[in-house]
Amino acid sequence: MSSPKIWTHKGTFLLAAVGSAVGLGNLWRFPYLTGENGGGAFILVYALTIALVGIPILIAETLLGRASRKSPIMGMQYLTESHNTSRNWRAIGWMGAFAAFIILSFYSVIAGWAIHYTGLMFSGSLVGADAATIGESFGDLLASPGLLLTYHTLFILASGLIVGMGIHKGIENGLRFMMPALFVILLIVLGYGVVAGDVGAAMSFLFTFNLSDLSLEGWLQAMGQSFFTLSLGMGAIMAYGAYMSSEASLTRTAISIAFVDTAIALLAGIAIFSLVFGSGLEAGQGPGLMFVTLPIAFAELPAGWLIGGVFFILVIGAAITSSISLVEPVAAYLVERFGLSRPIAVTLMITFCWLLGLLTVFSFNYWSEGTITHDWFGRSPFDVLEFITNILMPLGGLLIALFAGWALSREEVLREMSTNDTWFECWQFLVRFVAPTAVAFVFLRTMPQIDGYLIPAVGSVLLIGAFTAGRTFIQRQS
Ligand code: TRP
Repeated sequence: MSSPKIWTHKGTFLLAAVGSAVGLGNLWRFPYLTGENGGGAFILVYALTIALVGIPILIAETLLGRASRKSPIMGMQYLTESHNTSRNWRAIGWMGAFAAFIILSFYSVIAGWAIHYTGLMFSGSLVGADAATIGESFGDLLASPGLLLTYHTLFILASGLIVGMGIHKGIENGLRFMMPALFVILLIVLGYGVVAGDVGAAMSFLFTFNLSDLSLEGWLQAMGQSFFTLSLGMGAIMAYGAYMSSEASLTRTAISIAFVDTAIALLAGIAIFSLVFGSGLEAGQGPGLMFVTLPIAFAELPAGWLIGGVFFILVIGAAITSSISLVEPVAAYLVERFGLSRPIAVTLMITFCWLLGLLTVFSFNYWSEGTITHDWFGRSPFDVLEFITNILMPLGGLLIALFAGWALSREEVLREMSTNDTWFECWQFLVRFVAPTAVAFVFLRTMPQIDGYLIPAVGSVLLIGAFTAGRTFIQRQS
């Protein structure tokens, strides 16, 4: 066996994890969810969940990766064997890989929209256009399978190329160049938003906390978003953690990732809402916020085409640094398990994702609302894929928290975390009890008719969790 692969620098894990965390979730999803859910109150719940649930699970997932130094599937196999726990925990690895396929398949299609908008902005074709025209141009894009396919192909190829070049030459070098560039672009767009837009309105929208603005649905969405944005529960962080230097502090790194990720979401929110409010537009437009509302604002602002174009480059870049972390866990598994060369493993992974992506591409045209294929329980194939990931991500996070909290020994965790007892106890309490409870709630958001079933459903999820955890615990003692 060759010695395990490690990132070149102590800080590279942080860079890679931030690259994974910061993506469409921060620039596209966070602002529109905040817009739909009344602003500040949503952000408050989101920040609380990041601190109490996100950070502990982030530590747990990194810990599993670094303790096994393998791809998530092989790593979980190793950990269940070395800790003498039920083999069922290996589901963490498999579910993660499955979720990575699905997420990448639609992530790539949506990132492709940003490629289209980069072109629209720089070509100046939207300058001075009115709201109706811009809305139509988004509709035209979605109605064209050819365009969507072209962008989807380009995006997934770019991600595959980076991962195919290996963790040092491809991923590390790519991130070292892209991350600072993305940050600079974000600052430029923010500066422009402050000058050309209405920052005052944006700030008061984002930071006026009025809890009564928030529905139960909004609460659950805030919690779900905190998972999505930290890339938790799917093995991506575990795969990167496997390459993490043993010297880097898990706790400090996890807190930094969560901090930077949240800061970037907020800065993007301030930039976007300054422009949107400055142009007298509405915040609650849903997923179209970035692709319709924002372009309307750019269309009428001075040099809007230029800043708009640069902004969409930021979106593409942030999406690529996330998508490479979706390719890596599966590619690393194929290399480890079947001895494939990295380029071949990556090619296999992205080919399947590309094919699966066709479901999303056709969901917006051939199979869109009103067609027979759409009416699959009233959802398009894209909705179904999103629904599946909304189940898999929290479930993965739940299992990771329970496994790290109950199956790993105190000494082992303390050695990895290298912190004091108090913080360890605190972390353990969070991953054993608080995180699983919170996740159970997020999980339930995906269940239909939530109100009627809320209490019995939460109860049963908790029971199952406690039972499984107890079983692991007892087995380890034997
Ligand atoms: N965190 C990413 C974003 O905010 C999305 C994401 C969710 C992700 N899960 C992931 C990315 C797993 C990479 C790996 O856009």
